[in-house]
Amino acid sequence: MRTKIKQILHATTPETWIGKEISVAGWIRTVRDQKSFSFIELNDGSTLANLQIIADAKITHYETLLPQMTTGASVRVTGKLVASPGKNQALELHASHMEVLGLCDATRYPLQKKRHTFEYLRTIAHLRPRTNTQGAVLRVRNALAFATHLFFQERGFLYIQTPVITGSDCEGGGEMFRVTTLNNFSDPTKDFFGKPAYLTVSGQLEGEIMACALSDIYTFGPTFRAENSHTSRHLAEFWMIEPEMAFADLKANMECAESYLKFCIRYVLEHCREDLEFFDKFIENGLIARLQHVVDSSFAHIPYTQAIEILKKAPKKFEFPFEWGADLQSEHERYLAEEYCKKPLIVTDYPAQIKAFYMRDNGDGKTVAAMDILVPKIGEIIGGSQREERLDRLEEKIRHHQLNREDYWWYLELREYGSVPHAGFGLGFERLVLFATGMENIRDVTPFPRFPGHAEF
Ligand code: 4AD
Ligand code: MG
Repeated sequence: MRTKIKQILHATTPETWIGKEISVAGWIRTVRDQKSFSFIELNDGSTLANLQIIADAKITHYETLLPQMTTGASVRVTGKLVASPGKNQALELHASHMEVLGLCDATRYPLQKKRHTFEYLRTIAHLRPRTNTQGAVLRVRNALAFATHLFFQERGFLYIQTPVITGSDCEGGGEMFRVTTLNNFSDPTKDFFGKPAYLTVSGQLEGEIMACALSDIYTFGPTFRAENSHTSRHLAEFWMIEPEMAFADLKANMECAESYLKFCIRYVLEHCREDLEFFDKFIENGLIARLQHVVDSSFAHIPYTQAIEILKKAPKKFEFPFEWGADLQSEHERYLAEEYCKKPLIVTDYPAQIKAFYMRDNGDGKTVAAMDILVPKIGEIIGGSQREERLDRLEEKIRHHQLNREDYWWYLELREYGSVPHAGFGLGFERLVLFATGMENIRDVTPFPRFPGHAEF
């Protein structure tokens, strides 16, 4: 039976493992040859740390195996765990048997060198999960996904799967990838679905259908945007978590979003300590303190109109201009979060003209019940709103946004048959991973990043 390295190195009582005969498997990270034996650092991805293995002539066929023990080779090792005299680990493995499963030509293996740039590692996405940084990113990402389900399940939200292929443009931005089996696009009625179809930009509209029957739901799935963004915060394919709550207003929405974000951060602080310490040391000094601060603080609340006033008075030159009625740019969002509030903030009541058609009118003829959560380092991490549940207002908005009423017939019927106040939000999962790890580029926190010109793996 194989033991995962995490079980051994993260044991609450390492002493109980001493003297145990075990078998591990993984990839060799480094080999240090001494006179009569070798130190092998073995990693199996279950945890950041390597298990130190002492390989010597006691191993059957040692002489034959020795040249095969190279960086990158995959091996299965059996032996006895002993207390380690080294100060870096409590236990090490004295090998009695070793099997080389897959040879690795050390002269060609790209991860032979200790440090590579993240840009280079993206070109070898099939090997980069074997690096310390990627391993840590992927373990934290996994923990954040698990925390997401824990949070919503504990609150009684139902996990709903919304379609990836859709006929409606939720955000109305027209940044959609077309899905087609046609070679000639002139007649969409001849296409597979008999009408134009796209990859979804958001599961929200379908999520609203479900909330208007099941009360509280959430989606967690891939979304696609064909925006030609070359920033460190945008992907063409990203994952989004979209809760939707019936009988809820903007206030309830903000409470849920703040609690969810804090829950996730608290979860990784508790369950991913080793990986976070790695990020704190090598990626962003002070990361753990920054995350703890988020958990401990209550988020600031600032209406959009006031945010514009704050930006006007800011002792800082911005690259992009801003004025009431324009969308905030990332530099404005980061100023508000990093320098003005020094913690996450929720900007509310945006001008109707810069937000999607479904957001609820505030009744002042100018603003809608929108909320964006802005965090230090990232800017916008969550976007949400109370939804327009009044049929006549929604029809007017659809007209105003020059959308096709027929495309939204079912969305409108939700307002005709037992309409309820409801609200929800979307969190960009990769932005959450960026926030939790301190990584700089969104392309390094998703296993196979999709961005303009890149869909290799
Ligand atoms: O603000 P957005 O566009 O909102 C919606 O899609 C709503 N339908 C959500 C809802 O109310 N149910 O996107 C939500 C979040 C953003 O705050 C951001 O974190 C992330 O999704 N996001 C992206 N992440 C990576 N790459 C992109 N191109 C992204 N676009 C949005
Ligand atoms: Mg947004």
